[in-house]
Amino acid sequence: MPELRGTTKGPVLTRWFGTDNLHTLDVYEKLGGYGAMRKALTTMNPDQIVQEVKDSGLRGRGGADFSTGVKWSLMPKESALPMHLVVNADESEPGSAKDRYLMENSPHMLLEGIGIAAFAIRSHQAWIYIRGEYDGPYERLVTAIGEMKKKGYIGPKPFGADWPLDVRIFRGHGAYICGEEGALLESLEGKRAQPRAWKPPYPAQKGVWNRPTTVNNVETISTVPWIIENGGAAYAKLGTEKSHGTRMFTVSGHVQRPGNYEMEIGKTYRDLIEGLAGGALPGHTIKAWWPGGSSSPVMPGDLLDTTTDLDGVKNVANLKSHPQPPLNMGGRAFATMGGSGGVIVMDESFCMVKAAHRLLQFYAHESCGKCTPCRVGGNWAVRAYERILSGEGGTEDLGILDRIQDGLQAGRCLCGLGDAAGWVIASTLTHYRSEYEEHALHNVCSAEMAAVNATSPLAGRTNA
Ligand SMILES: Cc1cc2nc3c(=O)[nH]c(=O)nc-3n(C[C@H](O)[C@H](O)[C@H](O)COP(=O)(O)O)c2cc1C
Repeated sequence: MPELRGTTKGPVLTRWFGTDNLHTLDVYEKLGGYGAMRKALTTMNPDQIVQEVKDSGLRGRGGADFSTGVKWSLMPKESALPMHLVVNADESEPGSAKDRYLMENSPHMLLEGIGIAAFAIRSHQAWIYIRGEYDGPYERLVTAIGEMKKKGYIGPKPFGADWPLDVRIFRGHGAYICGEEGALLESLEGKRAQPRAWKPPYPAQKGVWNRPTTVNNVETISTVPWIIENGGAAYAKLGTEKSHGTRMFTVSGHVQRPGNYEMEIGKTYRDLIEGLAGGALPGHTIKAWWPGGSSSPVMPGDLLDTTTDLDGVKNVANLKSHPQPPLNMGGRAFATMGGSGGVIVMDESFCMVKAAHRLLQFYAHESCGKCTPCRVGGNWAVRAYERILSGEGGTEDLGILDRIQDGLQAGRCLCGLGDAAGWVIASTLTHYRSEYEEHALHNVCSAEMAAVNATSPLAGRTNA
């Protein structure tokens, strides 16, 4: 059984976590698992399922927050071509490990969700595109699929319904870009993983092998059995008026209890970071936190009371005492985003310029190279950071970084990877500009000096 440290039992996804051998079909079914798939296939039609998911208000948990029910309703009701459900289990976002956690602990919850979702979109073929390094979840899923086939839950007549289902797993090779849905579909087709220049028709019309396709995240699909079992209205009662349900958060970095947590949407990041994850390490204070993996703009430590719903994280008014960051999405200013739920926490001992440098190295390395701003901008930014951090930079480098972030954002790249790289620069420059200036002008790092002082045997002693 994988370690459950740092985990709460939430009401939806993790309600059975901690039960011995939950990953086996026997135990999952004894707890009530597969009841929702049986109900969907034997008592409901696809349109009723889609409506139930629409009523639930469930939004995609892969980062884009798109309504799941609406996405499913875009699939054609009739198609001469086979239709596909593709589950995005690539999870390469720095700071995010919740999909791995769900698949490892409860692979049948995902597979039951796949059974229901495939039926709802009238597809007989489902794929799980899984990150190459995820050996544990992969093995659990292979075994679980074997158990389902033995029982007939995957096969010609699942639960006696005249609706054959096949589920296959495709292993990626660990590239971040493979999580972007267009690149993922290219990779599934055996091609180089590069984003598609999406214009209508979207994947629901022309997805993998040009066939109607729905792509959904692991957590999104794992939520579906609960919704079908309890009803969309029951799910919609959880959370806030506009953001329904619960979601998984992975908390990592400078906290006492890093781990995966399920929490109702609408509670605050303080509830999560200081409550569930135990708060800062003894003697330290939280300086920065990323709400949705490193691809979401960073937030300062004094804004932990931001709520986890859409209105909370995106609301620029929440930045009150802070200058509004020059971030925009489709022309609209926003503070940050819930993204994949990967919450990274850093305390005062960590230098934000070094953090941004490290992240830009990641984005430059992971750029697929298809579009120019991302291919070129990331590397330029890394060079500017190298100059600043080696003491050879100057204020002109801050101007260069500012221009690079502007060139990466606001739809100038083919996919969100470029925006993410731009937001790292923009948000750290906005909230931690003084640290940039210290490095660029004086070759000084106050964060590192604070860390050294804190660990010195003279710590706490005055000169008096
Ligand atoms: C660079 C990049 C990486 C992404 N990686 C993932 C990922 O690992 N898993 C995921 O579910 N979505 C990822 N996404 C979002 C997907 O493109 C897509 O929106 C999502 O899989 C849709 O599922 P959902 O509607 O259930 O959220 C990524 C997007 C970008 C731009």
